[in-house]
Amino acid sequence: MDLAGARTLLDRALDDARAAIPAAADLDALDALERRLTGKRSPAAAVNEAIKGLEPADRPVAGQAVGAYRAAVLELLEARRTELAAARAGSRLEQERLDLTRGGRGRRRGHLHLVTQVRQELEDVFVGLGFQVAEGPEVETDWYNFEALNMPAHHPARSMWDTLYVRLGGPEEVLLRTHTSPVQIRVMEGRRPPIYTVMPGRCYRRDTLDARHSPVFHQIEGLVVDRGITFGDLAGTIEAFTRAYFGEGHTARLRPSFFPFTEPSAEFEVTCIFCEGNGCSVCSGTGWIELGGCGMVDPNVFLAVGYDPEEVSGFAFGFGLERMAQMRYGIDHIKTYFENDVRFLAQF
Ligand code: DAH
Repeated sequence: MDLAGARTLLDRALDDARAAIPAAADLDALDALERRLTGKRSPAAAVNEAIKGLEPADRPVAGQAVGAYRAAVLELLEARRTELAAARAGSRLEQERLDLTRGGRGRRRGHLHLVTQVRQELEDVFVGLGFQVAEGPEVETDWYNFEALNMPAHHPARSMWDTLYVRLGGPEEVLLRTHTSPVQIRVMEGRRPPIYTVMPGRCYRRDTLDARHSPVFHQIEGLVVDRGITFGDLAGTIEAFTRAYFGEGHTARLRPSFFPFTEPSAEFEVTCIFCEGNGCSVCSGTGWIELGGCGMVDPNVFLAVGYDPEEVSGFAFGFGLERMAQMRYGIDHIKTYFENDVRFLAQF
């Protein structure tokens, strides 16, 4: 072999390496290629062997050619090894990937409290009827809770609500609202008719706990003020939301009643589902459960907020949310709402 022959041999081998190494399928194949291209029986070894027989001047040239060949082959091998290693790590990652999107087995998710569900459901019903939703503060002044609702100081009707007072301002000036009716005043003060608004929220009374009464409870208030609103509109609205909430088969009745802020006033009752109207301890033997009050807004209430009672008329209502749900789901004691017993809460 002369120098030219040695060069040809190495050039071909390098061409071979450039084609084979990047195509090697795995690390074992690369090892085999390394042996073939640089090992004892490789072209490089053959040229090394032949150097002794070359012209002395050609020997270092041939030696350098072998060195350059080796360096080029090792570089190709190294690049392919890195590639294969990365691919292997990637496929392992893929294999060992944990799918955390499935949320695990047997884990129960929490949900909204029943009272919140009732509230949202009723809001949806009323929004469907064209109402807006508004809220007011739980700590109120005497003006909003009583006075503006046609109950001046010492009005006997105030005793309908056993009130919890807050030590703020003058004596008995600030209180925990006993109903959601004060929000009516706030809504009317803030804008002009037409008003179609419901106002849900928490209320407080100095009541002793029994099956239907709790010192803390929730109401939803409704207020409509427009031109030419009649008692028929009130009765129709109550009918509509009772059906929407309790289902078609349910009967409700309005009975004449008294509230200072409405004239005429009515009480809204549904048949007691526990005894189906026969009388039991939940309905105190009457067969009916009172859910709330309603009526045509008293002219004095309009005057308190600067509306002209000759120009507009309206109706209002207020219902207890816990009681509504008691009647829909057959919950025999109001305290179960607040005991936080998960066995109860999880049923809804
Ligand atoms: N606020 C009354 C209560 O808590 C319920 C009520 C009665 C609200 C008549 C009204 C109404 O808006 O017109 O006992």
